[in-house]
Amino acid sequence: MRLRDSIALVTGSSRGIGAEVARELSRRGAHVILHGRDCERLRALADVLGARTITADLLDPEAPRRVACEAGPVDIVVHCAGSGWAGDIAAMTEQDIDRLVRLNLTAPMLLTSSVLPGMLAAGRGHIAFVGSIAGLTPVAHEAVYAATKSGLLTYADSLRLEVARRGITVSTTAPSAVDTDFWKQRHYERRIPAMLAADRVGRTVVDVIEDEVPRRVIPRWLAVAPALRAFAPGLYRRLALRFG
Ligand SMILES: NC(=O)c1ccc[n+]([C@@H]2O[C@H](COP(=O)([O-])OP(=O)(O)OC[C@H]3O[C@@H](n4cnc5c(N)ncnc54)[C@H](OP(=O)(O)O)[C@@H]3O)[C@@H](O)[C@H]2O)c1
Repeated sequence: MRLRDSIALVTGSSRGIGAEVARELSRRGAHVILHGRDCERLRALADVLGARTITADLLDPEAPRRVACEAGPVDIVVHCAGSGWAGDIAAMTEQDIDRLVRLNLTAPMLLTSSVLPGMLAAGRGHIAFVGSIAGLTPVAHEAVYAATKSGLLTYADSLRLEVARRGITVSTTAPSAVDTDFWKQRHYERRIPAMLAADRVGRTVVDVIEDEVPRRVIPRWLAVAPALRAFAPGLYRRLALRFG
């Protein structure tokens, strides 16, 4: 995928991984459109990158279509906006579940539906999803979050098949824990895998787009976990019970 002079919309780029993806895309010559809810943060980053901004709360059912409309024709969309939820399943209210599913899964699907016709007409484009290792290996106390990310990865794989011969490529990046505000409300307690720096993840997402890699787990060695889950599910379950 040629990045120079491409137009790239990055959702959730006011901070965290999305902001790093936007910086890296800009460094490699793309014209970036930033998106988020926090106007001041968006403005500050836009001034540095010379980017356009779109402010929208993706929990609003109309927002994905509006974001696509305001962005106009784009070559690349990076779906990065998202949030987590950790705790006992039964403690989650219906509203908690609805909000997580809407932001992490429904919104990227709706936004994709809105940008896809333009990409199909142009015969080129790239749609990138920021998933999570939680979408490939189940996590206790994060069941709904894991389900949204799992759904997103399967959606991306299905989309890739559908658009395969029409000039459009689809990638997913599935990081383990990344040092962002995502972890503001809770502590990351594992030593392995170590917390990743957001700029490293941002660079990887852009490498994956540029090289049209279908799926990348970060850190790369962690891909062994979903592989073990697929090929030796009994052993995987025993290890998961032991190591969480
Ligand atoms: N951090 C991790 O450990 C980790 C690991 C694996 C995957 N991920 C995934 O990476 C993505 C980015 O996470 P992050 O770590 O960068 O989190 P973050 O620092 O909390 O950033 C979240 C981004 O999403 C935007 N956002 C949140 N709620 C929104 C809403 N309702 N409408 C529109 N935008 C909204 C935020 O914009 P505003 O601040 O402007 O509202 C912000 O730009 C998420 O999809 C997350 O699931 C994160």
